[in-house]
Amino acid sequence: KIKSTNLSLEDYKDKAKDVLSSSTYEYIKKGSLRKSTEKSNKKAFKDILIRPHYFVDVSNISTSTNILDKDVIWPVGIGPTAMHRLAHLDGEVASALAAGAQGSIFVLSSFSTASIEEVAEQAPDTIKWFQMYIYKNRSINMDFMKRAEKAGYKAIVITVDAPVHGKTYLKYPDFDLPPNLSLSNFVGITDRPSQTVSSSFTIEDLKWILSSTSLPVIAKGVLTKEGAKIVRDAGCTGVIVSNHGGRQLDGTPSSIESLPEVVRAVGKDITVMFDSGIRGGDDVFKAIALGAKYVFIGRPVFYGLAVEGQKGVEGVLDTLKQELENVMALSGCASLSDVKRDRVVHWKYYQG
Ligand code: FNR
Repeated sequence: KIKSTNLSLEDYKDKAKDVLSSSTYEYIKKGSLRKSTEKSNKKAFKDILIRPHYFVDVSNISTSTNILDKDVIWPVGIGPTAMHRLAHLDGEVASALAAGAQGSIFVLSSFSTASIEEVAEQAPDTIKWFQMYIYKNRSINMDFMKRAEKAGYKAIVITVDAPVHGKTYLKYPDFDLPPNLSLSNFVGITDRPSQTVSSSFTIEDLKWILSSTSLPVIAKGVLTKEGAKIVRDAGCTGVIVSNHGGRQLDGTPSSIESLPEVVRAVGKDITVMFDSGIRGGDDVFKAIALGAKYVFIGRPVFYGLAVEGQKGVEGVLDTLKQELENVMALSGCASLSDVKRDRVVHWKYYQG
């Protein structure tokens, strides 16, 4: 049973700010250009209102669901983010163990500071997926897919929204990985991992990936019905509606505003998941109501790691779980299947 904590995700962020160096904190928090998308990811959640129902037995709340043929106790996982050892030396292993302890899926970034194999060995009981970009050199993709399959990862996540880096304006623009850490997956492959990502990939590259792995493939970074249909037709098992936490193209709709259009376009055919801007159980509730099957968090994982390593990440997930259960009970939803579209309304359309 999950323990109780008294820290909100905002509290974890404030505490992390005290622990991390200014440059690391800025790197984690940053958004691209004028941060319109980064800000609206969070604001847009506040514009969505919850319509509670009463006279419902909510003495037993079930958040359980099924994702890619696996039963899970709740619909929240850890999305792929680079370099967890920046926040705590236990890095991705701590995050993966925390995910396992809280019944969450852990998605390992290809730009991790612990390797595919190390995370698999140290966190064997956690459901793990592996994220990669499409690289200029297909042999890197092939190598990573083989390694992920062999190490027991259950899905490949392909991030599609980063053909180039989103431009940012930072106080510490030269931020780099400290010399005691490395991008472990690339050791023995290249000394310049950041230069491996392709800026010229097409849907043919995605089809090649689909034909080269036995694992289900998920496209991450889809914001439109057109984008969703392309990856569905190519053969992807799912999509993650995401704008990379507002770190890539600035000026897109918030991720939660994009979710309904993707659900309408492909929700009957493939699994629609969500990230970007989730900071509480109410946000999880809203994303589920708008049709997401599963959601991921990014930055809050770093804040938990910085505060208390694995325990801190467990705390972040625990807070979200308790808040989700609380919101479900207060709104009259005993199970996740009750969290339907009519439980939320955008304030603009709220007529009372
Ligand atoms: C990311 N994100 C990301 N995505 C990805 O596909 N591969 C990666 O290596 C990274 N790295 C990364 C580093 C850091 C520091 C952050 C904050 C984010 C994006 C991530 O998966 C996710 O889309 C967002 O973080 C979700 O938004 P929130 O939850 O941070 O608002």
